[in-house]
Amino acid sequence: MGTPTFQPVLERIAEESERIPGRGRPASYIPALAARDPRSFGMAVAELDGTVYGVGDWREPFSTQSITKVFTLALDLAREGDALWEHVGREPSGNPFNSLVQLEYEGGIPRNPFINAGALVVTDRLHTRTGDAAGELLAFLRSESGNPDLDFDPQIAASESAHGNRNAALAHFMASYGNIDNPVPALLDQYFRQCSLTASCADLALAAGFLARHGVRADGTRLLTRSQAKQVNAVMLTCGTYDAAGEFAYRVGLPGKSGVGGGIIAVVPGRCTLCVWSPGLDERGNSVAGVAALDRFTTLTGLSVF
Ligand code: DON
Repeated sequence: MGTPTFQPVLERIAEESERIPGRGRPASYIPALAARDPRSFGMAVAELDGTVYGVGDWREPFSTQSITKVFTLALDLAREGDALWEHVGREPSGNPFNSLVQLEYEGGIPRNPFINAGALVVTDRLHTRTGDAAGELLAFLRSESGNPDLDFDPQIAASESAHGNRNAALAHFMASYGNIDNPVPALLDQYFRQCSLTASCADLALAAGFLARHGVRADGTRLLTRSQAKQVNAVMLTCGTYDAAGEFAYRVGLPGKSGVGGGIIAVVPGRCTLCVWSPGLDERGNSVAGVAALDRFTTLTGLSVF
């Protein structure tokens, strides 16, 4: 811990967050998410050197869900470079994260890597390249967060699978266009494990640090080129919160990525990374108190990409 640069602002935001009237509702499609207390709230900020500040439930593990899509994108982009963009686009979809509607008239190429269809393509390609996409993801997050105990939650993975008809439909549909390499059941197994990864705000703020360090990992080695790190941040800004990305950019002004577990990561390039968690979601699947907290953070600190 260094000088408490961000601690007072985090404490003020946590205090204010207790007064938010409606905190939304936890995701209800699987029991493990539905059971979380919507009053939970944690927030962490990691500086470029790994100094972390936190408040509330910032060390409490939660289901990272779609936040993992940022990490699989980075891991695949690092390996295959621009060839990835022949298989997935970079435009906001304006549709919910699990929508099928654009896929047919866009020839099986998903709009972006952060809707479920796009994330399935990215995980498929990472799996082809590594033989174990979920394992690569876990190893990367353990190493960047410095937390060797990070792991998947087998119960959540099993529930995802039991409620996975829509993801299975997306994967089969894209396979019919030749945009999926692996057998669909193997891909879904990887994707559901990926979604089940459990981590805290502290873990995720640290693990996203390479995006604030322009592609450089915690140990000083490079994962992404400076340009690729910019690309990932840009896609987070425009697509990271689905059909609410415009509103998120307007309110928060940072690249961000949400998950239905109630977590959101955000990046201030060249300065710090943030993770906030509160399980109550709005109707588009983004944490109500989480978005409000990031909104307050950029207002109070003046840190934003704009
Ligand atoms: O793929 C799914 O439907 C779930 N595992 C939800 C992933 C997610 O977090 C989407 N967005 N916020």
